[in-house]
Amino acid sequence: MSQDDQKRLAGRAAMRYVEDGMIVGVGTGSTVAHFIDALAERRADIEGAVSSSEQSSRLLKERGIPLLDLNAAGEIPLYVDGADECDGHKCLIKGGGAALTREKIVAAAARKFVCIIDPAKRVDVLGRFPLPVEVIPMARSYVAREIVKRGGQPVWRDGVVTDNGNWILDVHGLRITAPIELERDLNQIAGVVTVGLFAQRPADVVLVGAEEMR
Ligand code: A5P
Repeated sequence: MSQDDQKRLAGRAAMRYVEDGMIVGVGTGSTVAHFIDALAERRADIEGAVSSSEQSSRLLKERGIPLLDLNAAGEIPLYVDGADECDGHKCLIKGGGAALTREKIVAAAARKFVCIIDPAKRVDVLGRFPLPVEVIPMARSYVAREIVKRGGQPVWRDGVVTDNGNWILDVHGLRITAPIELERDLNQIAGVVTVGLFAQRPADVVLVGAEEMR
């Protein structure tokens, strides 16, 4: 089965968690695009969606799913999103699509976070996928130097501007055995907006293709 077929299976499997009348938080990426397709088939049953990116907002609008503002929605019952890597504790690396900040906000505001991935995303130790860090543009060099002190090799994702007007550093060379601590540490560097580690708030459920990860 192709990687895209696995993504489709995961996107469809997440529909098990969608209940009538729900406000659904929607992540970003190619796996989520399959989820949005499935969600559109039940758009009349849900109240609407809170989006984590301009890209997903566009897809949701195209499929006639009402978009809701997180400030008006309050706590949301369900958030569905993909990931770039997932370890055995359901800690994630996210941000390959540069949407990490809004993704982290919607995940934080959600009661249940269902992560949908294809098998290639499962790892024992996070860090082979370069860790995305969103930074305020004027802090780029400073943050990069601080990351080097911590043993990482930051590479500026040149030409990419996030939905929030910021820049991304992709940090190579990390072997992340203590993701909660690293997330906390990197978060404290002045100029860091968001670290693409989702460890303090990991996923609650991970669907690898159609199968739930145990
Ligand atoms: C977006 O910034 C990322 O966090 C995505 O969730 C991640 O890159 C997964 O993308 P795919 O579903 O396209 O693999």
